[in-house]
Amino acid sequence: MATEENNNSEMIVTPWEVKGKIDYERLIKEFGTQPLTAQLLSRVEKQTDKLHLQLERKIFFSHRDLDTVLDLYDKGTKFVLYTGRGPSGPVHIGHLVPWMFTLHLQQKFKTRLYFQITDDEKYLVGDDRNLKETERWSYENALDLIALGFKPDDTFIIYDTKDIDLFYDITLEVAKRITYSTARSTFGFQDSTNIGWVYWPAIQAAPCFIHKKLTGENVPALIPAAIDQDPYWRVTRDVAQKLGYYKPAQIHCRFLPGLGAGGKMSASMPETSIFTIDMPDVVKKKIWNAFTGGKGTAAEQRKDGADPGICSIFQYYFYLFEEDLKELAERERKCRGGEMLCGECKKDIVEKLNRFLENHRERREKAKDTLEEYHIKRR
Ligand code: TRP
Repeated sequence: MATEENNNSEMIVTPWEVKGKIDYERLIKEFGTQPLTAQLLSRVEKQTDKLHLQLERKIFFSHRDLDTVLDLYDKGTKFVLYTGRGPSGPVHIGHLVPWMFTLHLQQKFKTRLYFQITDDEKYLVGDDRNLKETERWSYENALDLIALGFKPDDTFIIYDTKDIDLFYDITLEVAKRITYSTARSTFGFQDSTNIGWVYWPAIQAAPCFIHKKLTGENVPALIPAAIDQDPYWRVTRDVAQKLGYYKPAQIHCRFLPGLGAGGKMSASMPETSIFTIDMPDVVKKKIWNAFTGGKGTAAEQRKDGADPGICSIFQYYFYLFEEDLKELAERERKCRGGEMLCGECKKDIVEKLNRFLENHRERREKAKDTLEEYHIKRR
C-alpha cells in the first residue's frame, strides 16, 4: 500500500496503491463484491449480541460469501479468521481498525486467527528495502497486534520468511493453477515487474488453506481486511475448490482517512498519519496541522458553522473515538452550528488519542514477553 493522493484524481485501488477519491459503491461494482445488507447484518447481530460499531457505521461495508460462512456455522462447521500485515514500517491507527474488528469476531465466534506478516512481499515490492529491515518491522508490528488483546491459544502469527516451510507446498498448489495471463490482468503486472512479485500472490493465498494441513479440519477462512486486498482473494477463490478447499470468504472495510484533505492514512505520508509509537507532543502537532472543515476565522465559523463532512478530525470520532452515536450527532450539530470551534474539537481528540496510545504502548511493551507464544511454530 504505497502511495496516496489527496485530490480528485482518478481512483486507483490495488494492493500496492490507493489513490484519488475513493468511491466505495463503485468498488463493490467493479470488484464484483456484495454490499452488507441489513438482513445479513441482523444475522451477524444474532450471533454477536450487539452489532459492532464498525458494522453499525458501515466501516465494514462489503463482503463475499459471509452468508455462506454463517450458513455453515449454523450447521456446525466453524470457520477460521485470516488477516495480515505488510511490515513496511511502524503501524498507524488506520491499521488497527480492521484488527480490532477481527478481535471482536474472534471473541464472539470463538475461532482461530491466522495472521500473516509479509516481510517477503514488502521486500519484493519496495525498491529500496532490505530483508533485515522488513524482518525487524515484522516483530515490531506483531507487538501492535498483540497489544490489542489477542490471546496466544487461538492466534497464530506467520512470519513468511521464517515459516514458509509450513506452507510452501500450498503455495505451489495455488501457483500451478493461476495463469500468468490471469495474474497480469488481476494485478496489473508489467514487463518490468520482478518475477518474485509475480509468484507472490500464491503466498498470500496459502494461509486461507493452512488450517486443514495443520489440523485435518476442512473449514472456510473468513478474511476481514481493507478492500484493496480483494484482488488476492479473487484469484484464490478461483482455485480453492479445485484444490479441495472452501472458497475463502471476505468482509471488506474502508480506509481510515489521513489527516490531510481526503485520502487514506498512509505510512508513506507520516505527517498525516498517527503511528502507535508517536509521542504525545507529536500527536498534538499532527492534529493541530490537520485539515478540518473549519472557516478562515473564528468569527466567520461562529456565524456560518463548519463542515464535518470534509473534516479529517471528525472521521476519527466516527471510526474510533466516539462510540456513542448520540454524542457523535451532538458533536456534528455543534460543529455545523458554529457552537464548537475546531480548537476545542482538536483538543478533545488529542486527549483521547494520547490516552489510547499511552495504554496501547504499555500493552505493546508487555507483549514483548509473550511474543514467541503467538508464533505459529511454537505449537
Ligand atoms: N498484503 C497485505 C499488506 O500489504 C498483508 C497481508 C497478508 C494481508 N495477508 C493478508 C492483509 C490477509 C489482509 C488479509 O498489508
